[in-house]
Amino acid sequence: MCGIVAYTGQDQAAPFLLKGLATLEYRGYDSAGVEVMGADGALHGVKCAGKVKVLVDRCRTANLVGTCGIAHTRWATHGAPTETNAHPHRDCSGRIAVVHNGIVENFRELRAELEARGHAFESETDTEVIAHLVEEAWADAAGDLVAALRVATGHLQGSWAVACICADAPGQVAVARNGSPLVVASAGGAAYAASDITPLASVTSNVITLENGQFALLGPDGTVAVSDEAGAPVDEPSRVTIDWDASAATLGGFADFMAKEIAEQPEAIERLLAQHVGDGGVALDKLRLTNDELAAVDKVYLIACGTSYHVSLIARTMIQTWAKVPVVCDYASEFIYEQDVLVTDNTLCVIISQSGETADTLAAARRIRKMGAKVLAVTNVLGSTAERESDGVLYVQAGPEVCVASTKAYTAQMVACALFALRLAQANGALGLDEVRAHCADLALIPDKIREVLAREEQDRLAANAFREASSSLYLGRGVNSTTAYEGALKIKEISYLHAEAYPAGEMKHGPIALLEKGFPVVVVVPSDSVRDKTVSNIQECLARGASIIAVATDGDEKVAQLAKHVLWIPEMPDEMLVPIVAVVHLQILARYVALARGCDVDKPRNLAKSVTVE
Ligand code: AGP
Repeated sequence: MCGIVAYTGQDQAAPFLLKGLATLEYRGYDSAGVEVMGADGALHGVKCAGKVKVLVDRCRTANLVGTCGIAHTRWATHGAPTETNAHPHRDCSGRIAVVHNGIVENFRELRAELEARGHAFESETDTEVIAHLVEEAWADAAGDLVAALRVATGHLQGSWAVACICADAPGQVAVARNGSPLVVASAGGAAYAASDITPLASVTSNVITLENGQFALLGPDGTVAVSDEAGAPVDEPSRVTIDWDASAATLGGFADFMAKEIAEQPEAIERLLAQHVGDGGVALDKLRLTNDELAAVDKVYLIACGTSYHVSLIARTMIQTWAKVPVVCDYASEFIYEQDVLVTDNTLCVIISQSGETADTLAAARRIRKMGAKVLAVTNVLGSTAERESDGVLYVQAGPEVCVASTKAYTAQMVACALFALRLAQANGALGLDEVRAHCADLALIPDKIREVLAREEQDRLAANAFREASSSLYLGRGVNSTTAYEGALKIKEISYLHAEAYPAGEMKHGPIALLEKGFPVVVVVPSDSVRDKTVSNIQECLARGASIIAVATDGDEKVAQLAKHVLWIPEMPDEMLVPIVAVVHLQILARYVALARGCDVDKPRNLAKSVTVE
């Protein structure tokens, strides 16, 4: 969702701001804009509907000379994605400009009040009220831009990360955070702010993550002064060290980030296992739960959205099978408002979030924490809100995931949850150390199994032909692999815009079977597991109605090979619970090929955001 970049220093601001916006493109957006404070003492801005590259082209002929500025990619919430609604937004004088990520929930009331006091609005956005509120506050702020922003945000309800410049405060950028992510940094005599660490990775490895209610003033000499809601200085703000090289967020020879991130899965899982598996079984030092606390856990809530929710479904099976602790999985957006939440004295909530910034997931975590449960975050982003607001963390270390559609974070999160399930089983005695070690040995085989699947991507490329004439498709699987079907269907929907319905295979005859007709593509995940024969029967039912079968099957399954038009082969697996971590890789690659054949931008699908920071 919306991305913010700010710079002040001695160099020209526009090149860094535009480059920063390009690195934030993955968050999802539909318009963009930049505003620079010129040496002539005025603000100069360029905005556009559409992509950052359009903005870059327009900036070539604009007078964007200046060493201080702010920039933004907008994911529309209030008002269409037009040039007028794109940020930055200015006050009446045109001397103050703001960019904002989040939602001002009371903007209608504020706008009415501001209009009644004579302010003229240009856009339909909620954000523009902030510019006018700063304008009013600036008059009494005695030249203190952060003080003006503090007064302005004091009127807001909702969530925000805001960056603000004022032509009468040369070289200064004031920023504020409440509910939407914002990081700031000082490096090489310049000061920076951004929605996440990716734009800053090329200039520093040390960033400050602002907490809710904090403000910062960035100065042209590189100073960053953090203060709290009351204006008191924060001497030791939270810091994170970026543990990946800026090149990790570049294509490095791959055609797109999705291809790169799919290929990175074996190494991501190896890193995770190397860090947490040893002679003593599984060690998860950042859980910040004692052995006794873990042993006492009698109920686990797994809460997440989208692909991360699919991780939770697999994690439920792992926790219940290995640790023998009952698990409830819930969509975060549902959990927030559910009336029937039952928290025991020893309930543990695990939130799963690649970005660690998903608003629904964070709201759900806050709710269950208030009810007395401890919260553990499984996340890929160090220093994310999910991590900072949780009692403990399991960092999945998959490296930056730029493609909006999650791939490597999905498989790494499943492995992280497997480690958590084993750690729980180790603590409560459901598994002995030798059994834990044996499961860890099975997990250690996964990277090479994925490498085998990656080497078979030609099978996926050919199978994509089965979707050429399709306007819909069906994904089926049983047991843990019903989840593989859900995730495969989500992937193809997200990036190719082809409708896909996912069902547990046995449920098909209770409704979705009516969809089937000659040539209708049905993807069936049918590994050689305990329910394989039942799934083969479902394939027969599909064939009887003329469907075209694309099967994900285990090497050597001749019967399935005879029935399916295309087979995506997976190697034998030691434990059927781990099959989803390998089988899904075929469905990721298949979705990518279908999307490419349909001319879609696989990394930046329409309407989607990488980090969904509004409810
Ligand atoms: C995954 O491909 C999607 N982009 C989406 O479903 C995502 O998983 C969901 O928005 C949750 O994101 P999170 O893991 O960052 O919380």
